Amino acid sequence: MEVPGYSDLEKIGRGNFGMVYKGIAQKDEKWYAIKQLYQSPNGINKIEPLMALQKSGHDHIVMFNPGFDHDRLWLVMDFFPLGNMNDFLLQPQNIIHTRLFMTQIADAVYFLHREGIEHGDLKPDNIMVSGTAQNPIAKVADFGLAKACRHSFFESWRSKWYWSPEVFKRFNSLYTKESDIYSMGAMFAAMVDRTTVR
Ligand SMILES: Nc1ncnc2c1ncn2[C@@H]1O[C@H](COP(=O)(O)OP(=O)(O)OP(=O)(O)O)[C@@H](O)[C@H]1O
Ligand SMILES: [Mg+2]
Repeated sequence: MEVPGYSDLEKIGRGNFGMVYKGIAQKDEKWYAIKQLYQSPNGINKIEPLMALQKSGHDHIVMFNPGFDHDRLWLVMDFFPLGNMNDFLLQPQNIIHTRLFMTQIADAVYFLHREGIEHGDLKPDNIMVSGTAQNPIAKVADFGLAKACRHSFFESWRSKWYWSPEVFKRFNSLYTKESDIYSMGAMFAAMVDRTTVR
């Protein structure tokens, strides 16, 4: 895959909504993560409301810039070398960060909801870890993407662990602020229990 303006592209993972690469931007020679989306019709229009958040921003959400080329939609975001919370919190030395992460995640979800955006896919894999291993910062990623993407159900069993009963019943066709709260509670329970679904 080629993305104009980025070099050294390397695949780092795959999720429900697309393939994730890391690459170096020509503009500043820094690493970025680039998610190529399995786009739904009008996907770009559905990304637009999410872009409105860029104005205010928030310390605990991962913002992205969309790019569009030959029918492909991708999102460029900061690259987080510490990975996601699933990997991070399962390391024995990192248990002390659980409560801090909960506060930061709750703050981010409160912000998204106040801005009228449901996340729709809250799970530990979608909480990126920024900062340093000693002073980590949780950042909520991938909010609102379910509405802009053709769902692959690639790893959806992992997401399902965090789905509310009503979302489960309708197979991810509808999510709400209430179902986000359910997912957040399930995620907090997994954090306290130090379990994960892998
Ligand atoms: N900005 C980023 N920096 C570093 N790694 C990332 C970044 N974004 C995603 N990743 C990694 O890429 C992999 C795939 O992420 P992706 O979001 O596609 O899948 P997922 O979170 O498991 O599922 P979903 O599609 O439901 O969000 C994960 O291991 C994730 O940690
Ligand atoms: Mg994700």
